[in-house]
Amino acid sequence: MKRIGMLTSGGDCQALNAAMRGVVKTLLNSGEQIEIIGFLDGYRGLIYSKYRMLSGSDFSGILTVGGTILGTSRTPFKTIKDPDEDGLNKVEAMKSNYHKLGLDCLVVLGGNGTHKTANLLSKEGLNVVTLPKTIDNDLWGTDMTFGFQSAVDIATDCIDKIHTTASSHGRIFIVEVMGHKVGWLTLNAGLAGGADIILIPEIPYDLNKIIDAVNLRMKRGSHFTIIAVAEGAISVEDSKLSKKERLKKMEKSKFPSVSYELADQISQATGQEVRVTVPGHTQRGGSPCPYDRVFATRLGAEAGNLILKGEYGFMVGYKSREIVKVSLEDVAGKLKALDPEAGIIKEAKMVGVSFGD
Ligand code: F6P
Repeated sequence: MKRIGMLTSGGDCQALNAAMRGVVKTLLNSGEQIEIIGFLDGYRGLIYSKYRMLSGSDFSGILTVGGTILGTSRTPFKTIKDPDEDGLNKVEAMKSNYHKLGLDCLVVLGGNGTHKTANLLSKEGLNVVTLPKTIDNDLWGTDMTFGFQSAVDIATDCIDKIHTTASSHGRIFIVEVMGHKVGWLTLNAGLAGGADIILIPEIPYDLNKIIDAVNLRMKRGSHFTIIAVAEGAISVEDSKLSKKERLKKMEKSKFPSVSYELADQISQATGQEVRVTVPGHTQRGGSPCPYDRVFATRLGAEAGNLILKGEYGFMVGYKSREIVKVSLEDVAGKLKALDPEAGIIKEAKMVGVSFGD
């Protein structure tokens, strides 16, 4: 008999339910007697003992369902060791609830911040197995996270739709893509959607190079331009500022995001109409794409397998087309950014994509 706690933490994404289903089905299918405790709204549920007893049937019919049946929230790692407003020690509360409930292990689904806390709990002696979720694909130790491919599909669909209207009107369009501090999502959706210019945080942009690329297209007879801009894209000048200086600049800016600032700058420089489209949280919403359903099921199955073998302190990841286990210690606190020298960027440049550099 195994008692398993489960939680989803951080921003949601597609295939969280598919991954949890993969874990539970694997455990049930092994013939092991299991009890599942689903903590509600991320680590908050574990801290404040908010949970539901779940059975196998709760995990039926959820393969294709977006969001998370457990709910989620952000519990920043930065303040995890600080007492809450009532003076409660959050880490001790999590440990105490884990032991009080007699858990054999805790399954945690999350991204970067979530993994830092998972690693902390593991070091504090809890049996933890994690699964890599995020549309940003920025988690160290895995080539891919689930949610990413679904978000690529949605952002690509947005660029596709913008393409037709941009072409009809002969306009410059900016599509702002999520991805936090990295450009995986923007690069992949940008390439899939045939964006002419792709701006990612890993390659700071020079406005003049962007204008040159737009003008070159016009000279060659293309009267519209599609620019895929990562929400974290940054100019060469801003990349030289300290984090504090950058935050100060952003606070003072009249633009809600980098895309609107760029639109203004490009419009002034070219005299052309520039429109901005922000698909925003739609990129995290809806049903997981088939790739993510399969991928999350595979990751979940391996997490179940690790639990059956009693192997803890690992994230289940994906390396060189294999499902692998990676020590939480190796994953926690590291960001997986794009290498500006990566083959995919070189190939994109070969086909004429400008990165504004
Ligand atoms: O980490 C996923 C993500 O969607 C990022 O791409 C984005 O920067 C952030 O979360 C948005 O966070 P929130 O949902 O809290 O607005």
